[in-house]
Amino acid sequence: MAREKVAIVTGSSSGIGLLTTVELALNGYCVVATMRNLESRGRIEEAAQKAGVRDRLDLRRLDITEFDSLPGAVDAIIRGHGRIDVLVNNAGFSVAGFAEDMTLNELRRQLETNFFGNVAMTKAMLPVMRAQKSGHIIIVTSVAGRVGQPMLSAYSASKYALEGWSESLRIETHSLGIRVSLVEPGAYDTDIWERNVVIAKGALDPSSPNKERSQRFAEFVKKSAKHRRDARDVAKLIVRIAQKPNPKLRYLIGGDAKLQVWLKRIAPWRKYERMIAKAVKIDE
Ligand SMILES: NC(=O)c1ccc[n+]([C@@H]2O[C@H](COP(=O)([O-])OP(=O)(O)OC[C@H]3O[C@@H](n4cnc5c(N)ncnc54)[C@H](OP(=O)(O)O)[C@@H]3O)[C@@H](O)[C@H]2O)c1
Repeated sequence: MAREKVAIVTGSSSGIGLLTTVELALNGYCVVATMRNLESRGRIEEAAQKAGVRDRLDLRRLDITEFDSLPGAVDAIIRGHGRIDVLVNNAGFSVAGFAEDMTLNELRRQLETNFFGNVAMTKAMLPVMRAQKSGHIIIVTSVAGRVGQPMLSAYSASKYALEGWSESLRIETHSLGIRVSLVEPGAYDTDIWERNVVIAKGALDPSSPNKERSQRFAEFVKKSAKHRRDARDVAKLIVRIAQKPNPKLRYLIGGDAKLQVWLKRIAPWRKYERMIAKAVKIDE
């Protein structure tokens, strides 16, 4: 009889993490669904009940920025499940605002979660996968890790850092039987746009020299909300990648993401940057 595969998902209380957890469970995985606050378990419990997969989930508390706790959390999962086949590094958030209005502490906080948190989680997992001689690490970055996004300089920096680190990691771990893949979504309808966005304090300051441009950008983001896609597509892609014996490094997803990467490749950069500044309303 085929052994049940075990997956861990970080940030499974909402959005892509929640949907990926349910999708993995629907595809026969036992999923360790982790979240930084177990009081936020309501949505995932409801979604899993509805899909008929609640018994395939093991809900655990895990904050990826509590670096020292991560090896112990991984040990506890191994004691409970025996092995880990897939790690989905999904947890993240975004800090928005002009780079000029953002403090170094806001930038650090962004990197602390989106870069160091994901790195720490992966490092906690590597000894397990090395011993197993197998395992798949899927890291949710973003199109912002391929093309710098205005008003999201800290977020882009965190995702570029994660992309570079993961490229290196993939080369280092291939001969150990460990696979590393990046998922790079465009704009999808999740909590990252509202509940989990942190607006740089300086951007909210009425004396900010960027006040009007920030307001125009905020208006643009509001209006473009209707174009955000269904995050279930990202969850389904992650499950397909998890099932591949020989996955690629990068999986770009979403028409907007593909368009940006294509334009960056073919358009002269000076034209491209003017086009983007106009599109997001920060330049007239
Ligand atoms: N949606 C998009 O358009 C989009 C596009 C490109 C990339 N992404 C990436 O997709 C990933 C998932 O985001 P999402 O869009 O699904 O947004 P989301 O609905 O806001 O989900 C983010 C999840 O990360 C969790 N989280 C944040 N900080 C954490 C920490 N320190 N430890 C553990 N969990 C933490 C959140 O937990 P709480 O519930 O406790 O806040 C939440 O469960 C992120 O890495 C994001 O950068 C999203």
